[in-house]
Amino acid sequence: MNIILLGPPGAGKGTQAKILEDKHGLKQLSTGDMLRAAVASGDEIGRQAKEIMDAGQLMPDALMVEMISQRIEQPDCAKGFILDGFPRTVPQAEALDALLEGKGLKLNAVIEVSVPDEALVQRIETRSRQSAESGAAARSDDNVETLRKRLKVYHDQTAPILPYYERTGRLKRVDGLQSIEEVTAQIEEILGAPVRG
Ligand code: AP5
Ligand code: MG
Repeated sequence: MNIILLGPPGAGKGTQAKILEDKHGLKQLSTGDMLRAAVASGDEIGRQAKEIMDAGQLMPDALMVEMISQRIEQPDCAKGFILDGFPRTVPQAEALDALLEGKGLKLNAVIEVSVPDEALVQRIETRSRQSAESGAAARSDDNVETLRKRLKVYHDQTAPILPYYERTGRLKRVDGLQSIEEVTAQIEEILGAPVRG
């Protein structure tokens, strides 16, 4: 089973993807995590990514599409994958459809985790305070100023994906303001139900 988790920064995509990975053996593919790994390795993509991520902007579509295209061919994706943070623009969504078709793969569900902006600001403040308290390094884009920019980018560039999937009957919504367990239960209900597309 191959699914997409969509939603604004802090909606809980990563939290839910990890739970689904543990419970159902699907592979979480977080483009944000891949880019943070590139930043940590200090390679060329990492140097470009650090600047763009800290500014709350998006990496080029072609680079992200190529990254995902190569990644989903790895053996650990054979049982299925959860795209977390990809696609993030309409061109990425269109390229994903084309590349899945080319590889003979299908999308079983596109799930939007919906959370209003103000709740997201609170969550990111909590996450950055918790990492500071635990002594772990906070994400360098986890501050209110950058989050506001990430939210603007989400509304301007990523939210237009929603009608793209809605038109083709593939979009499902879950209320991301519920508890983590309730959100998981709602996603599992969707995955158990027949999905068109
Ligand atoms: P990315 O790493 O994808 O970040 P993001 O989408 O901005 O969002 P987060 O990872 O912060 O949120 P999340 O939805 O995963 O929430 P989480 O589970 O952590 O991208 C970072 C950057 O990389 C982008 O800005 C861009 O520059 C670049 N990039 C990545 N992909 C790209 C692409 N495809 N194209 C171009 N550029 C790309 O939860 C957040 C917090 O809330 C946690 O503390 C969690 O514990 C808590 N929480 C979760 N669920 C709940 C709940 N139900 N109730 C209460 N608290 C909850
Ligand atoms: Mg995440």
